[in-house]
Amino acid sequence: MYKQIGILTGGGDAPGLNAAIRAVVRTAIGEFGMKCIGIEDSFEGILGETHTVNLNLKSVSGILPRGGTILGTRNRGSFVKMVDGKQVFPQMPIGEALANLDILGIEALVAIGGEGTLAIAEQFHKRGFPVIGVPKTIDNDLAATELTFGFMTAIDIATEALDRLHTTAASHDRVMVLEVMGRNTGWIALHAGLAGSADVILIPEIPYSFESIVRKVQARENSGSRFTNIVVAEGAIETGKSEIYQDNKEMRLGGVGNYIGTQIEKLTGKETRTVVLGHLQRGGSPNAFDRMLGTNFGACAVRALASGDTGKMVALQAGTVVTVPLSEACANIKTVAIGGQLVRTARDIGISFAAPKESKMGEEAMFEVRTGGALN
Ligand code: F6P
Repeated sequence: MYKQIGILTGGGDAPGLNAAIRAVVRTAIGEFGMKCIGIEDSFEGILGETHTVNLNLKSVSGILPRGGTILGTRNRGSFVKMVDGKQVFPQMPIGEALANLDILGIEALVAIGGEGTLAIAEQFHKRGFPVIGVPKTIDNDLAATELTFGFMTAIDIATEALDRLHTTAASHDRVMVLEVMGRNTGWIALHAGLAGSADVILIPEIPYSFESIVRKVQARENSGSRFTNIVVAEGAIETGKSEIYQDNKEMRLGGVGNYIGTQIEKLTGKETRTVVLGHLQRGGSPNAFDRMLGTNFGACAVRALASGDTGKMVALQAGTVVTVPLSEACANIKTVAIGGQLVRTARDIGISFAAPKESKMGEEAMFEVRTGGALN
């Protein structure tokens, strides 16, 4: 049994990180009698002079509903850099980090983070250091787990934004465009679009055409609905084009909402307004589900560590927390299935994805569901 373990949070913050930290500390101390050291600012905290903090039951008291992370986080630094919009892992200073972990008396690590953090954690595992990963991201794009905490809260926030846009859109007979996060996947846009009654959902997995968006706006107009709500994922792509970046050097996604809003106003003549929801989706208190998932992931991670099940990540599969190898955890990004159930449901209730041949794609989706035998 380990006497002392380290905990860190890496990547972009997500609601539920503090719930996970609290569960790790309470389980490690209460159930296994381990001591806990918090490593500040992700893996950066175990380099150089090191930045750590002792975590006891008192230090995690009251943090469950708090947003952000009490340990701080980094999504760039000595271990991971952004080059041409992609995370690259330069010569990672693993040797220095391992030597510092030894000096600090940390015998195992709980690394809470997304794809990048888990890829770094895997390198520690490869060097023989016991590590367990805990997945988080509002984007919900990790293939090995059905859900990551942060996602459900982000959907709640985006749904509330759509509800609010709905009333002002209807009052002014306007087109409203809401840009949401999600990197190169459309999970937030799809879920919030369904929950918040969007008329058009634009996701990276289904390239859009303006012709198709305009058709939808005009069809609504003709049927007496003089406003249209559009939710667009930051990574959405116009047919034949590529993503839009707000920062071409770092290749940070953003700007597609304004692009679409401007074009729609020109093409339809309808007053159009754009809202970029941005980091509001990541900040603030986690909802009940994310508190629960963060807590369950945190406790299960410590149990796995204590039983020697290391080099793994905890993951939600069929509603139960299991462990999967870290190598699998970072291998693939989970994208929205264009023939999947949610996309079909959205189409069935009249939501457009603005694909160039929208009706044709609808037929294909139905065909897949019918031949699949079950409602998938
Ligand atoms: O991965 C989470 C995420 O919020 C993405 O949806 C978004 O593209 C990115 O992080 C923004 O990151 P930053 O913190 O660098 O602005």
